[in-house]
Amino acid sequence: MDRRRFLAAAGSLAFAGSARADEQTYRRFHAALAREPALAVYADTVGSQAGAARIEGRLPADLQGSFYRNGPGRFELGGERYHHWFDGDGFAQRWTVADGKVRHQGRFVDTRRFVDESQAGRFLYPSFGTYVARRGFRDNDTLNAANTNLLPFNGRVYALWEGGSATEVDPETLATVGVKTWRDDLRSMPFSAHPKIDPQGGMWNFGALPGSGNIALYQIGADGQVLRMALIPVPQQAMVHDFVVSANHLIFMVPPYDLLPGNDTSFAERHAWAGSGSNARPLRIIVVAKDTLTVRQVFELPPRMVFHFGNAWEDGACTRFDVVLHAGDVLAELGGLMAGERPSRLQTRSEAVQVCLDYAAGQARTSRVFGASEFPRVAPQVVGSRHRKLVLLGGSDTVLSSVNLVDTDSGKVDGYRFGAGWQVEEHVLVPRRNARSETDAYLLGVAQDLRKGVGVMTVFDAARVSAGPVALARLPYRTPHCFHGNFLTA
Ligand SMILES: [Fe+2]
Repeated sequence: MDRRRFLAAAGSLAFAGSARADEQTYRRFHAALAREPALAVYADTVGSQAGAARIEGRLPADLQGSFYRNGPGRFELGGERYHHWFDGDGFAQRWTVADGKVRHQGRFVDTRRFVDESQAGRFLYPSFGTYVARRGFRDNDTLNAANTNLLPFNGRVYALWEGGSATEVDPETLATVGVKTWRDDLRSMPFSAHPKIDPQGGMWNFGALPGSGNIALYQIGADGQVLRMALIPVPQQAMVHDFVVSANHLIFMVPPYDLLPGNDTSFAERHAWAGSGSNARPLRIIVVAKDTLTVRQVFELPPRMVFHFGNAWEDGACTRFDVVLHAGDVLAELGGLMAGERPSRLQTRSEAVQVCLDYAAGQARTSRVFGASEFPRVAPQVVGSRHRKLVLLGGSDTVLSSVNLVDTDSGKVDGYRFGAGWQVEEHVLVPRRNARSETDAYLLGVAQDLRKGVGVMTVFDAARVSAGPVALARLPYRTPHCFHGNFLTA
């Protein structure tokens, strides 16, 4: 592969960035925080964290392992504040569950950016939603925020972003080991935060290269070797955050954005919604055949924004998958959180659907699975094959407040609402040893107790979510809001 071609393509992503980090966003956020203390979920975290949780309820004896999670933790420096939630520096967290106790630790990933900006005492580089250009940069990894997911794989743990490399951290201490280069010619290539781990070992992942109109595909073996790598052309491409994998296909959805030119605006601000008006463009579905790593077929749906998928499986001559669709441009709205403005559309104008791809008819059909929601997950053993259970966080107002296990066949929902004063983060299914079904599992996550200002790990019996958590592990402090995580059974 021609590495220069990748870097040129990636460089346009890196040069993302007329909004500058500023004091106004800082002042607006802190004024809002004084009025609404619950916004502390989006406040700055300083230093590392370590502490023991107080257990309420009964922690299952057979639940042992490490719950690795990641999200942005530092949003402010030198009196300036980022403009977008996705900009903050990655704060890696580990909840260790062992012998009836739960301990928590968290620390920033020592990325190039975090180290340089900490030394300088101010922001230096452009980020996803905030344009800063106080210092030049060499490649994508100078800008790497390592803030989106924390993935155990092949005995190692990786802090993932999407515009550059994975960053390896120590599985015990979370100390930064360094940038991961899967193969020399793939150095600093975008590597998404949503790899799909094959239950038989190995993983699939991709890297979006909007500047060049390509998506890079990676198949990585169980031992970390790159088995296959390919580029597929995806024109009119903007943010592509996640994908989904079935037995025979890799499936992408490309929301209708125009990526505007701009040398002094952020990547987020260059996104112009092209899904409304007389020239509205559709939501494209790109289906790649796993055997040839080429585009098999392209489908269209009405214009929607997409972040996250559940799972995909082959159903005879069709492929089915679940995805959360958002009406309109929610990217900009999420940015408002940094100024203390809660998004109103994210939870109220989304819908989880199952998409059925009919190859012969060339049609994609959707059927509703659940209403306003986000953070879909499935049991790890069913990735790429037939599944019936989908985890979704639900919310009818401006925060996600319920955790739900949805039966995608019957539509039946087994859910639990935390109620006022809580904000729920991603929950994951942790199968019991030799699990016989998708619900023979614990459902683990984190919820923020906003009134007490503390982070709480939650444990549900996946077969009886509506019965409420079997255990809550309460910390004596607040934890930075995470995007994604994964449980590694001990
Ligand atoms: Fe994500």
